[in-house]
Amino acid sequence: MAEKRKAKDLVIAIDGPAGAGKSTIAKLVAARLGLRYIDTGAMYRALTLKALRAGVDCADAGGLMELLAQSRFEFPVAKEPENPAVLLDGEDVSTLIRLPEVSQEVSRVAMVPEVRRELVHIQRELAAGGGIVMDGRDIGTVVLPEADIKVFLTASLEERARRRYLEMRQKGLPATLEEIKKQIATRDKLDREREVGPLQAAPDAICIDTTALSPEEVVDKIIQLCTEGREG
Ligand code: DC
Repeated sequence: MAEKRKAKDLVIAIDGPAGAGKSTIAKLVAARLGLRYIDTGAMYRALTLKALRAGVDCADAGGLMELLAQSRFEFPVAKEPENPAVLLDGEDVSTLIRLPEVSQEVSRVAMVPEVRRELVHIQRELAAGGGIVMDGRDIGTVVLPEADIKVFLTASLEERARRRYLEMRQKGLPATLEEIKKQIATRDKLDREREVGPLQAAPDAICIDTTALSPEEVVDKIIQLCTEGREG
């Protein structure tokens, strides 16, 4: 249990659908507790970017696995914790992986069982030393079932689309609210219905609906879980 492990060694799994606030919350929790943050969605996105660049179909397991075998993912400790970088083969792809073309194709890549198996393996290695906050769809269920704290974040589709829209606008990326809403709804369906590692809350996850909560309120709840243990 969380209270038995030192705060600096905690393993925290945060799952939920797109736009539920995972990365915002995970980054803040990591910064407050001095833990590393790993965005596993960024790995699926980076592989999708690589496939699009190489002209490999995003459902072609063989082609994707070949690309994956030559891929290196790095999450350097960020100078600005709110802006962690993702490096693919040494290149900073943090902005490129948020492009609409990537968002549109990434669920197809994430459906390929061989890809999931390999990325889960890499994610477990990244988490091996502890002291980590990892976010995704299957972290509490598949990647780190022994995590000290498991959180499943949700929010209404409207709110999630609104958040993504504002985020994209802020980054200067092209988007319309309607388009994003449609894309998120499609992605939710694919993420929930895939056979391997579907989006679902672990039985022992704490579910938090973030629709009407500020990031600080959500972070406070999670920090409380970490310091007091679940019953507290
Ligand atoms: O969190 P995100 O929107 O950046 O995730 C991108 C895609 O990757 C999303 O369609 C779900 C998928 N994904 C996944 O299947 N498993 C994870 N652990 C993380 C992301």
